[in-house]
This record gives sequence, structure tokens and C-alpha cells, in this order.
Amino acid sequence: MGIAFEPLLVKEPLQDRFGRIKRKLRLSLTDRCNFRCRYCMPEHPQWLPGRELMDREELLRLATLFVDNGIEELRLTGGEPLLRKDVVACVAALSRLREHGLKRLSMTTNGTRLPALLDDLIEAGLDDLNISLDAVDEGRFQALTRRPLAPVLAGIEKARDSGLPVKLNAVLIQGYNDDQILPLTHWAKARDLPLRFIEYMPLDEPGRWREEQVVSEARILDTLAARYRIEARPRGAAPATEYRLDESYTLGVISTVTRPFCADCDRLRLTANGHLYTCLFARQGHDLLTPLRTGESEAQLRCRIEQRVWHKDAGYAATPGPVDRPITMHGMGG
Ligand code: 5AD
Ligand code: SF4
Repeated sequence: MGIAFEPLLVKEPLQDRFGRIKRKLRLSLTDRCNFRCRYCMPEHPQWLPGRELMDREELLRLATLFVDNGIEELRLTGGEPLLRKDVVACVAALSRLREHGLKRLSMTTNGTRLPALLDDLIEAGLDDLNISLDAVDEGRFQALTRRPLAPVLAGIEKARDSGLPVKLNAVLIQGYNDDQILPLTHWAKARDLPLRFIEYMPLDEPGRWREEQVVSEARILDTLAARYRIEARPRGAAPATEYRLDESYTLGVISTVTRPFCADCDRLRLTANGHLYTCLFARQGHDLLTPLRTGESEAQLRCRIEQRVWHKDAGYAATPGPVDRPITMHGMGG
């Protein structure tokens, strides 16, 4: 009589047809936001209906599937992730995925709710934070975000005091905050906070983005060179190219538009309603929540994810310019 063995479950990491292995998942906790950054959403956005959003258990089940398939880093995004009422409980639940191989649990936020929530988030297991800061001048900040600056500065202060690793993100738009390159750099350098300038990508309200509004990496470096000695660091797989200023401070530039890094892309995105986007510029997402709700097995769901990831497009480098689709950045999760 033969002995029945349990089949060995070999979990291959998720990989696409171009050989890119996926290690990072950006998980949107909500599409709602208390800001209205013009590079991200329309002034009067249409929010997803509440019943369509993943509840915590659904979020955890899908996140577990991804971590069990090789995802090592989760970044919680929005909209504004801290607007989600059970955000601390989400962080605590996701943090337990370390037992499944999760190495890092991060968040990108506009910072305004950090004073109220950060202590609990750290306690729940959050590892690090990215905070958006597009200007240090009040008028410029408001022109971009349509909201006041002070609550963001208070959030950054709170994050610094906590000792959690923090990075600042600044999206530059010509005519809005291109004059903030030096002021932002001085501000961040004086506080020894890492800053990344991000080229404006065509991900906002359809028809708004114009190529002339992109402040290129080359332009950013020219501006910085007037004031600092700059030394480029070798470019790794991370989207930001790092530069050392005056041998004392490191600043990053994310140049998706003028120097796309699609060939090394190791990311996936899951929207708050459980749609998988394999690329920021994908025309369509793939609904994982409906099959989850209708009782599909983990194995079937895994198969869906593997197929979608396998067919991931080459990316922005191959088809630059705006994408024709109804979803904007606030729904995609940054
Ligand atoms: N282009 C570049 N970056 C963007 N973000 C949002 N919209 C855009 C865009 N159109 C980034 C911001 C924010 C994060 C959530 O996403 O840096 O910090
Ligand atoms: Fe909100 Fe962030 Fe989008 Fe600004 S970039 S509107 S803070 S989600």
C-alpha cells in the first residue's frame, strides 16, 4: 500500500512575462482624502460607495495571499490612509504577516492626522512613513493642495519626534511650485529629513496634465547645482535616483516621465475596492474582491493574481503619455 503524501506547496514569487519579480504591494485603505492635490484628483471627486470598499478581513485575506506569494513590503496608501476609521487595527493585522515573510510595513500620508494617530500606529507595527510636502510657502502649498500647510508641518514634527524613519515627497508642477526646489531642499536638509522630488505624472483628472508642466530631473539638478555640490549615487532598483549634496545630505529624484524605471518595476497595487493594478498606468484593474466575496478558493484567487501579474504591461517607458481611464491617482493609491 502506498503512502499518501500531502502535495508540497511550492510558492513561486509573482513574476511577469518580462522577468520582473514582484516584491512590493501598495495597498489603498480608502480613496477618500481631506486634501485635493491637483496632481492627484479632481476638485469634486466621486468617492467609491462604502459597501464596495474592502473591510478589514477582506483586506487581510488578499494581503495574505500576496505575502504568501513573495510580497515582502506593503505600503498603505489612500486617498489618505489615516482617514480610514480602523486604520490602526489594519496596521496591527497586517503587521502579523511578518510571520508569512513580510519585511516592511510602510505608509504614505499627507500627515494631517499623524499627531492624533502616530503613537498607536507605531505600537501596531508601522515601520516607516512617507509624507507629502510640495511646498514650504503657504500660498504655493495651497495652490497645489487646496488646503493649509500648518497641519502638515505639525504632522511632520510629530513624526520626527517619534523617531520613526520619515521621507518627504514633493511633486513639482511648472508654474505652481517649481520655485520651491531650493526652499524645500533647505528646509528638509536643515532637519535632516530625506526629500524626494517626483516628476508630475499624467495620473490626475483626464485632460489636465501637460508635458510642459513636468519639472524634469535635469531641471531639478540644474537648480540645485546653483547652490550645492552634487554627486550622483549609482542608480539601484528603487525608483528614486539619489544625489549627495555637499557630501552631507542625500536627496532623491523620481523621474518616471523623463527616465522611466519600468524595466526594474517590482510593484503591484491593490485599490480600496480590491482591484489589482499591475502598473500605475494600467488601463484597467482586475477585480479580486467580487470573487473573494462569492467564495472563490484561495487557490483560484492565487491563480487570478498570477495570471494578471504575468500579463503586466511593459510600462510607461513603452507607452508614454496620459492613460484613458476613469480612475485617477487618489483611487490608485499613489
Ligand atoms: N504625479 C506624481 N506623483 C503623484 N502623486 C500623486 N499624484 C501624482 C502625480 N500625478 C504622489 C504624491 C503623493 C503620493 C500619494 O502620490 O507624491 O505623495
Ligand atoms: Fe490626498 Fe495624497 Fe492625493 Fe493629495 S496626493 S489629494 S493628500 S491622496
